[in-house]
Amino acid sequence: MRDRFVVEGLNGQKTLKGEIRVGGAKNAVLKALAATVLFEDDVPMTNVPDIEDVKRMHELLDALKTQPTILKKDIAEKFRASIVLTGPVLARYGAVEFPFPGGCVLGERAIDLFLNGFRAMGATVEEDDSYFKITAGGGKLKGARIVFPLVSVTGTETLMMAAVLAEGITVLENAAMEPEIADLALYLNKCSAKIEGAGTPTITITGGGLLHAGGISYDTPPDRIETGSFAILAALAAEDVTITNCNPGWVEVPLALLRQAGVNIETGADYIRILASEVPYKMVSVRTHEYPGFATDLQAPMAVFMSQCEGEGSILETIFDGRFRYVDDLVVMGAKMTVMNPHRVLVRGPAELSRKNLTSPDLRGGLAYILAATVAEGTSTIDNAYLIDRGYQHIEERLQKLGLNIKRESVE
Ligand code: EPU
Repeated sequence: MRDRFVVEGLNGQKTLKGEIRVGGAKNAVLKALAATVLFEDDVPMTNVPDIEDVKRMHELLDALKTQPTILKKDIAEKFRASIVLTGPVLARYGAVEFPFPGGCVLGERAIDLFLNGFRAMGATVEEDDSYFKITAGGGKLKGARIVFPLVSVTGTETLMMAAVLAEGITVLENAAMEPEIADLALYLNKCSAKIEGAGTPTITITGGGLLHAGGISYDTPPDRIETGSFAILAALAAEDVTITNCNPGWVEVPLALLRQAGVNIETGADYIRILASEVPYKMVSVRTHEYPGFATDLQAPMAVFMSQCEGEGSILETIFDGRFRYVDDLVVMGAKMTVMNPHRVLVRGPAELSRKNLTSPDLRGGLAYILAATVAEGTSTIDNAYLIDRGYQHIEERLQKLGLNIKRESVE
């Protein structure tokens, strides 16, 4: 048995109304859960989203209670964020064994930056058919200066966390600047870690002993990808929708592009309100980039938006080389899109979309299908709901409240 979503399309009408609340960020809380390994006491957490990847991380952490240095293969293979556990486990126990991490298939997703970072900190790496085995020299990682040849979100987080329990000072250069990283560092510092510069390209960590939460909770920040996805949905289908409990400052670039296209957007400290405008949207072009640039995780939803804009535009995907798997299905629905190469898609619009039975290709692509089905004429289905549930909590219930006719059903 598996689930699928059934969406009755609005046929291009903008009718959605009401409020939609943004949940806690998947890509923040998963790292905070991994960071609990750095603590001598329990870490209270708030605003934890009820999503599949969080359940998998809990399963991995539970399994570590019996085998503290082994990340169980069958669980770790289900999601990429499992790899961030390697840093805290190696730093605390002096060794870690893990399989190649799973997650969305977005082209090549190597782990060389992690392995090289651990080596720089004095660890050795052994590899057999199914596991990597990392051992810290003398049982303890040593501080090092690590220059990332390319910007990696999980690479930065993993080595930052490992350095918290290493001997001496670690400097990470060309670090990722995602706000979830700065947010995590802020929390760890409250619990006696010494991390400076998180949120900038240079992070300096002075290693020390186990952290102590002392009852201070980790408050999961709002999910900026969910925020951006809902803003795109509202631009496509809202009469008047307010996205609440979010941080508009974290989605400035996608909002700027939507405004450039003509979307009527109002923002406050923690909300974004989108009202239908009469004029057709003008085409925009998108180039994905590390934060604060346009997030690659919003690329597929944005493509659906662009399919409804007037003119010709392009999407340049600079982070991954396998992130256009959704395009073929959108084309069958009627979108005018052409894949030029693994990094570039041309979009012409506007296009009328029509119903299709779809299968979610990955987490963000699946969300894009929900958007496309919302805009389309007729009733579409989106199979493989699990992939969407990995990152979006109870999406159908939240969209129903805006007036969308979407339901979940089980299929054999
Ligand atoms: N890369 C390497 N070697 C490495 C690590 C990364 O070559 O050792 C390459 C990747 O193949 C990619 C680039 O570096 O081409 C950047 O990847 P990055 O490491 O930043 O991505 P990630 O950490 O694996 C996180 C998010 C992704 C998000 C990207 C980019 C988590 C768990 N995942 O992945 O989120 O797309 O950053 O912002 O934080 C999602 O939530 O749907 C998702 C895919």
